[in-house]
Amino acid sequence: MCGIVGYIGKRQAAPILLDGLSKLEYRGYDSAGMAVYDGEKINIEKTPGRLKVLEETTHGGELMPGMIGIGHTRWATHGTPSRENAHPHFNSSHTIAVVHNGIIENYIKLKETMAKRGYKFVSETDTEVLAHMLDYYYKGDPIETIVKVMHRVEGSYALGIIFTDCPDEVFAVRKDSPLVIGKGDGENFIASDVPAILKYTREVYYIQNEEIARIGTGDIKFYNIDAEPIEKELCSIEWDMNAAEKGGYEFFMMKEMMEQPKVIRDTYTPHIKGDNVVFDELKDADIDFSSLASVHIVACGSAYHAGFTGKYVIEKMARVPVYVDLASEFRYRDPILSSDDVVILISQSGETADTKAAIEEAKKKGAKTIAIVNAKGSSMTREADYTIYTEAGPEISVATTKAYSAQLIILYLLAIKISDARGVIDAEERKQLISDITRLPEQVEMVLNNKERIQKFANRYIAAKDIFFIGRGIDYAIAVEGALKLKEISYIHAEAYAAGELKHGTISLIEDNTLVNAVLTQEDLYDKTISNIREVKSRGAFVMAITNVGHSKIEEVADYVVYIPETNRYFTNTLAIIPLQLFGYFVSAGKGYDVDHPRNLAKSVTVE
Ligand code: G6P
Repeated sequence: MCGIVGYIGKRQAAPILLDGLSKLEYRGYDSAGMAVYDGEKINIEKTPGRLKVLEETTHGGELMPGMIGIGHTRWATHGTPSRENAHPHFNSSHTIAVVHNGIIENYIKLKETMAKRGYKFVSETDTEVLAHMLDYYYKGDPIETIVKVMHRVEGSYALGIIFTDCPDEVFAVRKDSPLVIGKGDGENFIASDVPAILKYTREVYYIQNEEIARIGTGDIKFYNIDAEPIEKELCSIEWDMNAAEKGGYEFFMMKEMMEQPKVIRDTYTPHIKGDNVVFDELKDADIDFSSLASVHIVACGSAYHAGFTGKYVIEKMARVPVYVDLASEFRYRDPILSSDDVVILISQSGETADTKAAIEEAKKKGAKTIAIVNAKGSSMTREADYTIYTEAGPEISVATTKAYSAQLIILYLLAIKISDARGVIDAEERKQLISDITRLPEQVEMVLNNKERIQKFANRYIAAKDIFFIGRGIDYAIAVEGALKLKEISYIHAEAYAAGELKHGTISLIEDNTLVNAVLTQEDLYDKTISNIREVKSRGAFVMAITNVGHSKIEEVADYVVYIPETNRYFTNTLAIIPLQLFGYFVSAGKGYDVDHPRNLAKSVTVE
């Protein structure tokens, strides 16, 4: 969602802020703005629409002099995407400017109080309340002021603040919304996400909840909510700079899909030692996999779909009950959990508000929590009992591909680990499963190499109104992710159905030439799904089938067939998702859409 960048140093701030904000565009936004202190006063430029508009109005930042500034891309929550509502927000005398990610939950009450105190509001945002509160409590000490505001606001926030009274400093503070401080040479940065500052520094401090940073050109000081100084550890970012660049591809999504073989390899490598699966992260964990009562998997969006595949794999392989929940449902449904249960939370960003709340709920109920997370140092990695990282590197495209594939790999490895502990697989089977995992990168590559064929097929469907995805068992789990990929970036209505459920309603939606994408990778279910294909075909559907190489019988029924290489029955989703990702991508690109930035969507959903 919204993005924050801040700069203090010897260079002109505005071009650096614009550059940083451009690296955060992937998070989703609908207006942008900057506040820069020019030595006398703070100037603000902001505008609805794309960052390009802000770049044009400020001549790439040149028209805004000054070496201290904060910038923001806003994803509207309170009030429309207008100039007034865009950040930064000022206090009335324009001596304090603030940018904010998150939601101030008690802002209506605070706004009433501030209005009674004579403060006038020019926007509909919750953020403007903060600017006026900072003004109200400011008596010369910015840290004391920030602390007073923190004690009064409820909700989530990451803030960047500048005061004309402190011309050599930028202030940052956070609660439940990500923020990092980048340490450079004679210059420092703040950012809501690492890619924004990766070009300038790899040394960062992760600010934790209710911590404040006071940032000069050299010194960075940290305080807790009692205004007491605290020490923080400087961390190095190991990501390759190129990881946050498009590297010749038209869109990040294509680059990220093409990276999947490497990401899969990087993700399993630390966990495969000879013929064993090891999780050093769980070495001292108080979890007895041999006697687990149940496994719960909780996540949002595609991470939830990865969990859905995980359910089929873990249940089938390890013979332990697995329940999958959307985090937004789990957190409010008073789930029944005990210390014999393990709750696996999956998240690319590690910052999704509902998934974070689910961790809290699971811990409260006494269950052990394991987070599968991609973003290093993100909130969930501190909140869950144990963290296992996916090694997807930075993912920029809003529609996830490589992070999803990496999540599947960790789930497969956990399935093997749990099965092993429960004694339901023997050493020979374990060895075979591990060997099948290590073949996946090459097999994914083979499917990716066929992308021109998928492109030609996808081009026929750029005008489609409805597209259906069907499958049974684990193939249903991939159908669901395939449908999401298509709808989020192409805006075509897409629905996934368990193939056996079609007759209970959906089949009435099938008309002449409606495309149905069918996934059939499970030998024991081939014939069942083929019957369902016949049913939709006899109602006029055009069927694309994704199936295993060798299953040529499908050509008698399907109109178009995509074969995936032969793998273990548990791991087929890693291969079957590739043509579906490519299909979604090519339909979107064929329609001329901005594939990486689908309308109304955000990469990281940090509000409820
Ligand atoms: C957003 C993204 C999805 C993602 C979901 C969960 O909706 O657009 O791609 O799957 O959030 O995000 P997380 O960071 O928790 O995996």
